[in-house]
Amino acid sequence: MGDSGRKAFICGHPISHSRSPIIHNYWLKQLGIAGNYTAIDVAPETFPQFISGLNEAGLVGGNVTIPHKEAACALVEKRDAAAELIGAVNTLWLEEGVVHGGNTDAHGFAANLDDSVPGWSSSERAVVLGAGGASRAVVFALQQRGIKSIRLVNRTLERAQELARRFGARVSAHELVALPELITEADLLINTTSLGMHGSGTPADVTRLPNTAIVADIVYVPLQTPLLAAAAARNLRTVDGLGMLLHQAVPGFERWFGKRPQVTSVLREILVADVEKRG
Ligand code: ATR
Repeated sequence: MGDSGRKAFICGHPISHSRSPIIHNYWLKQLGIAGNYTAIDVAPETFPQFISGLNEAGLVGGNVTIPHKEAACALVEKRDAAAELIGAVNTLWLEEGVVHGGNTDAHGFAANLDDSVPGWSSSERAVVLGAGGASRAVVFALQQRGIKSIRLVNRTLERAQELARRFGARVSAHELVALPELITEADLLINTTSLGMHGSGTPADVTRLPNTAIVADIVYVPLQTPLLAAAAARNLRTVDGLGMLLHQAVPGFERWFGKRPQVTSVLREILVADVEKRG
C-alpha cells in the first residue's frame, strides 16, 4: 500500500474526459483519507491482463467505463446481482485477492431520484426511451423499486424485446410509433438514449404527458437537455443526469476507502462548473 494510502482508479479507452477523479479525490480530501484515484487508459487488447494484475499493481479496486463494462462482467471472478442481470460491471474491488465486479449505475439512478423527487417510486407506469446498456441499469432500478409497468420504447424494436425478455413480465417492448400513446399515461419518463446530448434533438414530445409526470434524463451534457427544458416549461418535475453520476460513485468509494461519502450541493456545483467549462 505504501505511504500514499489506498489506490483506486477508473479505466476506459479513451479516458481523459472522465469526471470520476474529480468526485473521488474531492471525497478523499474532504474525509481526510490518505489515498488516490486516477484515470488509467487501458486498450481493449490489454484489458484482461489489467484485471488479472490488479492485486500485484497494488490497486484496491476501481471503476470501469466505455468500452470495457461488458468485458469486465465476463472477466471478474464474482459479480453482484445487479451486474449479473445488467450484464455490465462498472465497479471492481478485491476480496482476499479475488476480483469482484458490481454495477452501481442502478443504485445511482434510484438514489438520485430519491434525492430529487422523493416519493417517485410510488409511480405505477414508467416509459423508458432506449434499450442499450444505460437502459438496462435504469430498468433494473425501476424493477427493484417496484414500478408495476415498465414500457421500453426503442428505435430498434428487437433490442427492446430482448431486454424485456431478460427482465420479465413487468417490462414490455414497443416501437417508436407507440410513444405518443404510451406517453399519455406515463407517471415517469426516462431518456437513456444519446439524443439530447450536446443539444442534438429531443427523444419525446412532453406535451402529451400527464401534469403529474416526472421526467428524467441520464444525459448531463448539457445539464438541461432539450427534453428537460421542454418538461420544465410545462412545470413538470425534472431530474438531470449529473446526480446519477454522483450517486453511482458512492458504493465504490465506500468499498475502497472504508467510509460512505455524501453527495452534497458543494460537490455537485464543482461538477456543474466542470460540465460548463469542458462540455
Ligand atoms: P448506452 O450503453 O449508453 O445505453 P448504446 O448501447 O449504444 O449506449 O444505446 C444507445 C441507445 O440510444 C439505443 O437505445 C439506441 O437505439 P437503437 O437500439 O435503435 O440503436 C438509442 N439511440 C441512439 N441514437 C438514436 C437516435 N438518433 N434516435 C433514436 N434512438 C437513438
